[in-house]
Amino acid sequence: MAGQSDRYGTGYALPVMQSTAAIVMDGALLARELREKTRESAARVTKALGKTPCLKVFLVGDDPASQAYVGSKTRAAEEVGLQGETLRIPADESPDRLLDGVSRANNDPAVDGILVQLPLPPGHDATRVLDSIDPLKDVDGFHPENVGLLHQGRPRFVPCTPAGVLALLDRYAVPLAGRRAVVLGRSDIVGKPVAALLTARDATVTLCHSKTRDLAAVCRGADVLIAAIGRPGFVTREFVKEGAAVVDVGINRLTPENIPQHLAQSPRIRAALELKGRALAGDVDFDDAAKAARWITPVPGGVGPLTVAMLLENTVKAASLHA
Ligand code: GUN
Repeated sequence: MAGQSDRYGTGYALPVMQSTAAIVMDGALLARELREKTRESAARVTKALGKTPCLKVFLVGDDPASQAYVGSKTRAAEEVGLQGETLRIPADESPDRLLDGVSRANNDPAVDGILVQLPLPPGHDATRVLDSIDPLKDVDGFHPENVGLLHQGRPRFVPCTPAGVLALLDRYAVPLAGRRAVVLGRSDIVGKPVAALLTARDATVTLCHSKTRDLAAVCRGADVLIAAIGRPGFVTREFVKEGAAVVDVGINRLTPENIPQHLAQSPRIRAALELKGRALAGDVDFDDAAKAARWITPVPGGVGPLTVAMLLENTVKAASLHA
């Protein structure tokens, strides 16, 4: 977990892209900086262990988004000097094949970190699979032992996207202690762990979900608003307090068929749709929310690249724990 002070060192001028009102928090740039540091720590650990730390990724089925994420994780691992291996399992294989693969990876001293890409296809019991991962190789931080440690404030592996959110807020020196934070979405992957991390940093945290009443009003009370609900462009200016920090965790794939009407006007999204027939959009209507926010993350180029950077950090940490 990030410490009270700025873990990533803001000893030099913050690189900022200035929109009309808001500072755009550049996750791609921070991810590159973090990956350089990980390259150095990976080299140190490789020397100490006499072997290259290895991340083993399990990909079940052929979901295009999951394939793209897994490809970028293993490529990034190789780029910083780690070994990235993927075991692809067809969606119609018996769920035992995945459990067996995880068990082998648990017992293989060559493997330091294990990641099972989610969501799993129907027929798989994700809880059973995540529970079966050796907690000392659980670089996603989803095993109940690691979840418990995180919530007790003594994290071993911090889940990657929440760790990226905190890294970005720290990098831009967004104040957290004593501030009101609202987290939209209560998933195990993002909402719950990000709420735990913000609580540990002395923010006053409200965790919202589909049954929350007066959602926009609750969000307008936030100094720090984290959106992780998987609904493109859901957070508009009406949700954002003047001067708030808005972090967009959503990665929604838009096509001309599924684009919400209010996003169809965005020049960036229109250009991407015209060029490629598809576009990425976050949970935040960026152009609208940026009118009120002081800090805001873009999609793409915000939290997404940090998820991968944090996974690499966790893999090096796993390798050093095994040493
Ligand atoms: N699917 C979406 N985000 C994640 C993540 O952080 N880890 C895994 N394993 N699957 C995901």
